[in-house]
Amino acid sequence: MKNLRAGITLTALLAAGGLLAGCTQNFWEATPLGEALDYEHPRVTSRKALMASHPRNIRAITEALKANKLADAAKAADAIAKAAADIPRHFRRNTLAGKTTALPAIWQKKADFDAKAKSLRTDAAALAVVLKAGDKSGAEGALKTMQGNCGACHRMYRKPPPPRPAAPRG
Ligand code: HEC
Repeated sequence: MKNLRAGITLTALLAAGGLLAGCTQNFWEATPLGEALDYEHPRVTSRKALMASHPRNIRAITEALKANKLADAAKAADAIAKAAADIPRHFRRNTLAGKTTALPAIWQKKADFDAKAKSLRTDAAALAVVLKAGDKSGAEGALKTMQGNCGACHRMYRKPPPPRPAAPRG
């Protein structure tokens, strides 16, 4: 009987602990404090680094295409496919603390988010195949298709960037 009561107390304590941990996470999510303090969560830093590799690789592809270096472009396309395969893992945990433009919808519709990452992976791999086959005009179309995945995901799962200040006149 005693053991049973001890067991129940322990369960209650664990549940309360879990609740408390949950609250701390929500606290971060619910307040702009993290952003105000310029806080960078390490998980956010690493997923932003992954995202930042995409425009670099796209630039490498565009430049290699211009220079007719299709094999180099294929390497950059492969790099995008590899990074895309890593997107779901980088967003596995619900982290919205600090400086991030990720939206909570990611974790409400994680299966759809992951499917969008997979679509980028598939299209980047397809681009690499076309490039390896030496098909330059095919590659230009495949590049556009691949880039469509960026906006498709950002529109749903990323806060839009603040509007740019109007260019000075005159
Ligand atoms: C499956 C969804 C998804 C796809 C596909 C995707 N992104 Fe993102 N991207 C995000 C999210 C979410 C963020 C916000 C990350 C954060 O701030 O925590 C982001 C942020 C970024 C950032 C800003 C990184 C920073 O330093 O703040 C860049 C640049 C970017 N993405 C480029 C791209 C490009 C280019 C592609 C296509 C090749 C792409 N993304 C495809 C979801 C996606």
